[in-house]
Amino acid sequence: MNKSILGLDKEESANLVDNLNGLLSNFQIYYQNLRGLHWNIKGKNFFELHVKFEELYTDSQVKIDDIAERILTLQGKPLHTFTDYIENSSVPVGKDISNDVEAVNLVVNSLSELLKIERAILNASDESNDEGTNAMMSDLIVEQEKTIWMLNSWLGK
Ligand SMILES: [Fe+2]
Repeated sequence: MNKSILGLDKEESANLVDNLNGLLSNFQIYYQNLRGLHWNIKGKNFFELHVKFEELYTDSQVKIDDIAERILTLQGKPLHTFTDYIENSSVPVGKDISNDVEAVNLVVNSLSELLKIERAILNASDESNDEGTNAMMSDLIVEQEKTIWMLNSWLGK
């Protein structure tokens, strides 16, 4: 029997778990980028961006937990060490960024990278008939696309 208790193909679920661990790793880097921006931002937009980055990292924390628990739901093991996250991520790492435009650009570029990963997972979960993962990716994509629009508006683009 190749079906899991959820009625999903076990091998396909295992592949999705690997991809979700990639997304989890990238989200952790994105999260840590946001903490750095929240701490290091300087200039006339400090109060606005300091709060905005906190809002984004607080939201990411919830999403990180949701992704990890989706992995567990699919009977996988979520990665949880910094070493694994660094090895499995592709989002740009921001260090010592205090300039407002540079900071917002980093968030946009990080989200753009997350979107690519989520779309790849969405294609796989669609083929695997995994509606739970599919719906989760859809929700992430819709929200992140909107956030990119707002951040780009802030950038005057
Ligand atoms: Fe703070």
